[in-house]
Amino acid sequence: MWDAIWHNGRLATMAESGSPYGALDDAAIATKDGRIAWCGRRGDLQGAPHTLARDAHDLAGRWLTPGLIDCHTHLVYGGNRAREFAQRLEGVSYAEIARAGGGIVATVAATRAADDNSLFASARRRLSALLAEGVTTVEIKSGYGLNLETELKQLRVARRLGAELPVTVRTTFLGAHALPPEFAGRADAYIDAVVAMLPEVKASGLADAVDAFCENIGFSPEQTERVFAAATKLGLPVKLHAEQLSDLGGAALAATYGALSADHLEYTGEDGVAAMAAAGTVAVLLPGAFYFLRETKLPPIAALRAAAVPIALATDCNPGSAPLTSLLLVLNMACTLFRLTPEEALTGVTRHAARALGLSDRCGTLEVGKAADFAVWDIDDPAELAYRIGFNPLAYSVKNGAFPQI
Ligand code: NIG
Ligand code: FE
Repeated sequence: MWDAIWHNGRLATMAESGSPYGALDDAAIATKDGRIAWCGRRGDLQGAPHTLARDAHDLAGRWLTPGLIDCHTHLVYGGNRAREFAQRLEGVSYAEIARAGGGIVATVAATRAADDNSLFASARRRLSALLAEGVTTVEIKSGYGLNLETELKQLRVARRLGAELPVTVRTTFLGAHALPPEFAGRADAYIDAVVAMLPEVKASGLADAVDAFCENIGFSPEQTERVFAAATKLGLPVKLHAEQLSDLGGAALAATYGALSADHLEYTGEDGVAAMAAAGTVAVLLPGAFYFLRETKLPPIAALRAAAVPIALATDCNPGSAPLTSLLLVLNMACTLFRLTPEEALTGVTRHAARALGLSDRCGTLEVGKAADFAVWDIDDPAELAYRIGFNPLAYSVKNGAFPQI
């Protein structure tokens, strides 16, 4: 006897099956102990749905997809940067603001000043907006503390979000995000400090991975590599903010370390793409940041496709370059701005996003043994998820086989 079954619906399994969206018509999906126990066509069921499971739910022809996965966010932070947005509209660039001591460092001051509860409360609101659109797994980075105490505070709040809300949270330590004011002019000394934080971060159990910002306004490839070497020694997987504003060879460096993902990638060249393909590193594209910073250089989509690099998509939710809490809008932007197909876009927030988090065996597709994380939609075609702008067709979501209270 299964715990529950959803029947009389259409499943976008997003599994590699050769058919668009891995779709199954007139299908059913059953759960047991929070996992998918069966998934297939109605005709292959061994009886009437209500005789096979304790609870039977009629989908009434609706589409059911895997729960969506936002694999790159900076969701936990203090304050906001609306004033900086206004400055940028007057012509000051993101990089100029950062060099003048604003940008990330402004959010660092607000995050250091905030206590756990206020960080939790503001992040919870943003996370609730994501969950309302069918997100069931989210990655959350630190990186607005830039000292051990505040970085751990951010990671602690991220873990608490996962404990109190119906969502799986994967955390990432991003100590090498920017140079804190107390290290002005001493970037190498700050990288020493980040490397020294790593064993404590690891011992805290609060970080699942390590990230860095490799950029002219961030850290050099040499500095990034020191962080990666130390993380790798501790058994922590790495990922990288690479080639957002210029090509420093970050994607190739990340690939050398077997990175889970390299993210942004607007300026990545052929060599970076080839290195990612060889290493199996996922390309995480962030069209919200591209849009919000009014960037014009497109990531190398054709080259990524040709090399079969898995493409994932995420909000990059953060106060400076992407104050964005809609993964559905990201799907639309990926299609309109980056020319992804709606199917590539949905794959980017399901199967490929799971891989970017090292969770391929746990979520991202509707397959037996994976978590029973679903989103049920009032749509006639999965392409509608990418097509609409500012409309939420979610009927309901299911987390670990249960109906969550958001
Ligand atoms: O992913 N690029 C660096 N980090 C963030 C932006 C952070 C900020 O501006 O606060 C990003 O775009
Ligand atoms: Fe980011």
